[in-house]
Amino acid sequence: MCGIVGYIGKAEAPNILIKGLRRLEYRGYDSAGIAILDEAGKMVVVKSPGKISALNEKARAEWPDALFTQAPTGIAHTRWATHGEPTENNAHPHLDESGEIALVHNGIIDNYLALRARLKDKGHHFHSETDTEVLAHLVGEFYKGDIFHAVCDALHQVEGTFGICVLATREPDRIITARRGSPIAIGVGDGESIVASDASVLLAHTQRVIYLDDNDVAIVKKDSVDIRDLDNIPVNRKIAELEMDASAAEKGGFEHFMIKEIHEQPEALSNAIRGRLDFTHGTAVLSGMGTSPRELSELGRVVMVGCGTSLHAGLVGEYAFEELADIHAEVQQAAEFRYRNPILDRRDFVVAISQSGETADTLAAVREAQQKGAFVMSLCNVVGSTIARETGRGVYLHAGPEISVASTKAFTSQVAVLLMMALKLGRGRRLSREHGLEIAKAIASIPKLVTQVLTQNAHIEELAAKYVKDEHAFYIGRGLMYPVALEGALKLKEISYIHAEGYHAAELKHGPIALISKGIPVIAVACDIPGKDKTLSNIEECRARGARILGIVTEGDTAAAARMDDFIAVPSTHHLVTPVPAVVALQLFAYHVARLRGKEIDQPRNLAKSVTVE
Ligand code: AGP
Repeated sequence: MCGIVGYIGKAEAPNILIKGLRRLEYRGYDSAGIAILDEAGKMVVVKSPGKISALNEKARAEWPDALFTQAPTGIAHTRWATHGEPTENNAHPHLDESGEIALVHNGIIDNYLALRARLKDKGHHFHSETDTEVLAHLVGEFYKGDIFHAVCDALHQVEGTFGICVLATREPDRIITARRGSPIAIGVGDGESIVASDASVLLAHTQRVIYLDDNDVAIVKKDSVDIRDLDNIPVNRKIAELEMDASAAEKGGFEHFMIKEIHEQPEALSNAIRGRLDFTHGTAVLSGMGTSPRELSELGRVVMVGCGTSLHAGLVGEYAFEELADIHAEVQQAAEFRYRNPILDRRDFVVAISQSGETADTLAAVREAQQKGAFVMSLCNVVGSTIARETGRGVYLHAGPEISVASTKAFTSQVAVLLMMALKLGRGRRLSREHGLEIAKAIASIPKLVTQVLTQNAHIEELAAKYVKDEHAFYIGRGLMYPVALEGALKLKEISYIHAEGYHAAELKHGPIALISKGIPVIAVACDIPGKDKTLSNIEECRARGARILGIVTEGDTAAAARMDDFIAVPSTHHLVTPVPAVVALQLFAYHVARLRGKEIDQPRNLAKSVTVE
């Protein structure tokens, strides 16, 4: 997610804005920028790819010292790229055609291409690939001397999400801010006001905060905040007292980034799915794949490559591609793939799955696949990452920055995008419109399913307390539940340091069951989809040897629940979608076990968020 700061009040706005951006660095970003009104009321802008330190150096080099001590008003932004590479041109703030209005934005404008076309026809010139610049020009198009009304008129045309701050040279006594889907907090200080995309920035100035609701628009002055709706009707928003300390505020009030990101999954999944399902034709719209229906129909095999959690997402993808697209699909560990001299040709569709887009083995696998003439694309979260750039085509997750080393929202977003890719591929082959529509509806329901699982957080925390002292754990599953077992085990081992292993449930009797002794926990992923009954039999084999069974079952499946010592029930859904609610339950379980064991959750020992070396 991008970071936004707006300030109006005492002089020194540039320093205050830079400090505010630093407070937002934890969110992850790839470029930053500031717009200031100088003492003559002129708009002064500096932007830079890379870190805030680079932006600060650039501002110090380009601006007169006086600006740092005399300018009272400005807006600033850290960008997490969604539309367009992380370049200076694409960095915010963006200006309107006149250069007298500056705007920063957090969110995604779904109809920006249509708006840009209309504005181009009116003579507007664009310098970036971003949706945000279109919004700045739209505000400018409506501006007739009242920036508040111009912003409202522009936002009435917008489809999608926004948290914005707007500055106009002709109205230097105010900042306009508005939100729909992307949070905005306003700090009410003494002779100063500060606007930010999260409360951590405000703490340096005030404990008094106003949170905007969707479709609120505020006129923020140094000694007043006037909030209205998009139709200029005043709304009353109370001033709250900020209790959290700054570090807690960075995590949105959560104790760790991991639990914050687990709870962000409904929003992250909504962003991953938004605008990508076509309910008219029962298919998915993934323009980044860069494939025509004819090219899709000529593909002979799907080969996914990835590591760790991304590899597990690929295992779910195998089932989806084979069932929906009737095509052979496999996922290979990227390090293995790159050295085994893979047999590939032009009919092979190689999909590199990588949250960071920087994993060395996955990048090497991409290069190997390109060497052999395969059709290569990527599924990444970080826009402009090396793997995304080197494949030149792919689908971004739009999950927002994932800070915690243990991957959560990236995994579920990867699964959602792989399901949409399989749907698109399938509809270019033998999948009917009716069947495609059924799948599209199931995918669209994913955010709601995850929200339902998250309501069990307290129950799962209680359960976790019963497993805190265990030093070993087995995770078992079959079919689509096997990747979930592997991912659940990885989550537990990497943050709690419990020796947890995932096995195919049928594999137990081929050796691992020798390890089952009295009291050993077996986490059985036994949702009500094909293979469940066999897994229930495997559970009996474990129980007969003294194991304690914690089951992931489908809500209402009382027969399965009765076979468990403890269970977590997840909502029923299409079998291809079932891995998502099931894994969220295991994410929460792993988190609470690790937390109760007092572990350093976000930065586990020995681990890095992105393994950029072999
Ligand atoms: C998962 O929780 C781990 N952080 C790790 O397995 C990770 O998934 C793996 O290193 C791949 O990273 P990538 O998706 O950024 O390529």
